[in-house]
Amino acid sequence: MVEDLFEAALAARGNAYAPYSRFKVGAAIRSRSGRIHVGCNVENAAYPVGTCAEAGAISAMISAGEGTAGRGPAPIIEILVLGWSDARPDASELTTPCGGCRQRIREFAGGSAPIHIAGPEGVRRTFTLEELLPQSFGPENLA
Ligand code: THU
Repeated sequence: MVEDLFEAALAARGNAYAPYSRFKVGAAIRSRSGRIHVGCNVENAAYPVGTCAEAGAISAMISAGEGTAGRGPAPIIEILVLGWSDARPDASELTTPCGGCRQRIREFAGGSAPIHIAGPEGVRRTFTLEELLPQSFGPENLA
């Protein structure tokens, strides 16, 4: 059921702090426990210090104790991301995770984990992590 992820990400987007770009983003992760963890982008007057919605959702998941203490199975089952500018709510582009966030997701998800990309009307496309970040570097490299 992707609808619950959509509703959670939409609500998180509503709390986004994006006064500089006006591009508000929400992310929702379903973790192995079945819980949903959300995040939104949090910008900063010192622009590079701003953080992405996906990073916030991952932080919430880890803070909730769903990290991989001792590196168990991947905690992220699926993730949904939605983002658009309130100045352009009818935009049709896909708001896919930035490169840095693809790598952040990679740390906690398997290659076949679905990454749903939504607009205001619902899910537009679904990719696997492997599609968005092929041939990636990850924890196994440091084993
Ligand atoms: N942003 C995210 O939060 N996630 C993405 O996947 C794409 C970009 C944020 C960062 C910044 O606050 C704003 O969107 C514009 O780049």
